[in-house]
Amino acid sequence: MRVLGIESSCDDTSVALLDCSQKGYFVLKEKTASQIKIHKKYGGVVPEVAGRMHAEKIIPLIEKILSNLSKGKKIKPNVIAVTAGPGLITGLIVGVEAARTLAYAWNIPLVAVNHIEGHICSVEIRKQKAESRKQGVKYPAIALIASGGHTELILIKKQGQYTLLGKTKDDAAGECFDKVAKLLGLPYPGGPQISKLAEKGNPRAINFPRPMLNNNNFDFSFSGLKTSALYWLEKNAKKKTIGYELLAMNYTDFCASFEQAIIDVLIGKTIKAVLKYQPKTVILGGGVSANKKLRKTLKEELDKNVPSTKYQVPSTKYSMDNASMIAVAGYYKAKQKKFTPWQKIKACPNWDLA
Ligand code: KG4
Ligand code: ZN
Repeated sequence: MRVLGIESSCDDTSVALLDCSQKGYFVLKEKTASQIKIHKKYGGVVPEVAGRMHAEKIIPLIEKILSNLSKGKKIKPNVIAVTAGPGLITGLIVGVEAARTLAYAWNIPLVAVNHIEGHICSVEIRKQKAESRKQGVKYPAIALIASGGHTELILIKKQGQYTLLGKTKDDAAGECFDKVAKLLGLPYPGGPQISKLAEKGNPRAINFPRPMLNNNNFDFSFSGLKTSALYWLEKNAKKKTIGYELLAMNYTDFCASFEQAIIDVLIGKTIKAVLKYQPKTVILGGGVSANKKLRKTLKEELDKNVPSTKYQVPSTKYSMDNASMIAVAGYYKAKQKKFTPWQKIKACPNWDLA
């Protein structure tokens, strides 16, 4: 089955064509237009601007994905899978309207995909036929999805059956990285900037709080950590026009200590859930899963606590928003005939997965 995936829920317009079957999910072609350069100027994603950029890019991207295959001949996909939520309404609406129009014009079925489900499926994307399906997810599984908009722990009893174990009460983990990076005067998105500086720093230099780590649930909260980083800077650093200048300490130590606090909370909660539910697979996904230390530490903790559990992380490229993961999630739904008629599909900015 050839699935055309479309993603436009935040600041990436992405289109991909995948060949999906029992043998695996292979990317035939994928193109992503990132809006980072534009949003950098504003220090974060501006929904109005994002919507306009998605609208400009989406058709040229679809055209590129479908026309260069098979010696210039256009390939018609069997199914269209589009992110319908959660995300920014200004972006979602562009992807959904493009998908609806194509489904109508080509008379092919349409699948509405939840963005979080896409991140869960990102670990199953294969770039080459040689990459065996054997490495796939075994159920039950637990997924930690941490991105700029979400931080969720999800129990997956079998493919497509989700129970939310916990989520953030306020800021998402990636949002917390981005906001603290902004305090330091670092450009958007701040997660990669902080983690790069953190590589050379001492994670024990500042003892930042580990919010909700010892609470008796699987929820998260990161806004207090952001505030405590701000208080620390107000006390120990000099305010500049943009951000703070650290005086007695390196940026690297500050970043390493801050990053460690987020990692400790994310991993502490995940291990607690793993010990309780004993899944066969643990999935780490979402933009924050690009963080090298988080990937490595979670592996070490799983090896130490539950060595027989499989650990699945996407390649760094597929940690970030992409249309291939949407196509994989769409394939699962298409196999179960969970189609949405083009007349009925709607962008749902607050669509809960579970
Ligand atoms: O999944 P994603 O591409 O978009 C959303 O669905 O939100 O995630 C983007 C988020 C941003 O907050 C970004 O700062 C964060 O992922 N991120 C990282 C790293 N790379 C991206 N956070 C920590 N460390 C990284 N290396
Ligand atoms: Zn995402």
